[in-house]
Amino acid sequence: MIPREIGPRIYSIGAVDWDRRIFDELIPLPDGTTYNAYLVKGNEKTALVDTVDPSMGGVLVENLRALGVKNLDYIVANHAEQDHSGALPQVLKLYPDAKVLASPKCKEMLVDLSLSPESRVLSVGDGEAISLGDKTLEFMHAPWVHWPETMLTYLRESEILFTCDLFGSHFASSDLYVSDEAAVYEAAKRYYAEIMMPFRTVIQKHLEKIKNLPISTIAPSHGPIYDKPNFIIEAYREWVSAPPSNLVVLPYVSMHGSTKEMVRYLAGCLVKRGIAVKQFDLARTDIGKLAMALVDAATIVIGSPTTLAGPHPNAAFAAYLVGILRPKLKFASAIGSYGWGGKMVEQIFGMISNLKVELIPPVVIRGYPKAEDYEALERLADAILSKHEEHRIVDRIT
Ligand code: FEO
Repeated sequence: MIPREIGPRIYSIGAVDWDRRIFDELIPLPDGTTYNAYLVKGNEKTALVDTVDPSMGGVLVENLRALGVKNLDYIVANHAEQDHSGALPQVLKLYPDAKVLASPKCKEMLVDLSLSPESRVLSVGDGEAISLGDKTLEFMHAPWVHWPETMLTYLRESEILFTCDLFGSHFASSDLYVSDEAAVYEAAKRYYAEIMMPFRTVIQKHLEKIKNLPISTIAPSHGPIYDKPNFIIEAYREWVSAPPSNLVVLPYVSMHGSTKEMVRYLAGCLVKRGIAVKQFDLARTDIGKLAMALVDAATIVIGSPTTLAGPHPNAAFAAYLVGILRPKLKFASAIGSYGWGGKMVEQIFGMISNLKVELIPPVVIRGYPKAEDYEALERLADAILSKHEEHRIVDRIT
């Protein structure tokens, strides 16, 4: 994208990746993404805040040239992941006097990951500031959003907080600022669910830390800039802190229809009892949608047939994913069908054993559901309802 001014001598100079459809060879990107980088020109010194994915290094360099940047004093690296630091070697080569400013941990990682020369990377402490003349950059260490080295950078005079991944969204757009709040909310929630959810507790602390900071603008490194920062701060507060909703997530896979029939019947039983359901066919679903549902759900019920004595690999993948995303679920169960036996449930429960969930007895049947199996599913729905009532789990807008 072309350079655009977001404040006096402050420019957005990153790249829009309209066509990228997967991140980390795992995360679907239905709306593409952006790699935002920002140029801050003080009356004495100039700093670049973050770079871009290596595939888009040319865009960044072109934008630096378009703005006539002859000398770059600093490159702030808020995060060492390659989509922000990958173009660092290219920029360092172009500006041989530029120094990289990073947290101590980030310094180590930049040397390891982007092969940046150690002598050109300076560590900055939490709370440390540098002057660009009439502009000041303050560094706030904010580890684990979502790597151990992450930090935020605050441009004091303009009250702009550069947050890199935190508050970001994979949302390609020519809009510099959020214009369609509903669309960006959806993309930011997806981003939170896939990237930030495992770090809920630490994010609560970071939100506390910035609570009293005057912020006019949040400039993340993915997606549109927030000129109304409360929009995303309040959304994050809700996602990290609000109690789970009266919602059951039902990811399932079915080879010959038995498990699917169980899911269909259980979903009806739950709805009849006033419990919302979101079900996902794991052979087809966008896992980002599943992750988003997990932001709010109180209960998960994983549905799987027995395949070669264990869960279907798609169900194993989902269970493993839920385990590592660590949503605020309170209860878990499983349902499924088998032909001649196996350890499907034990293996699924093993994969989510790190979650602080109470397990509700599963319903595992032989073959296609029969009258007594439907009754067992009714009892499972009763058990879920009674747990939700006991823990005062109520409907919330999700
Ligand atoms: Fe956008 Fe963690 O990189």
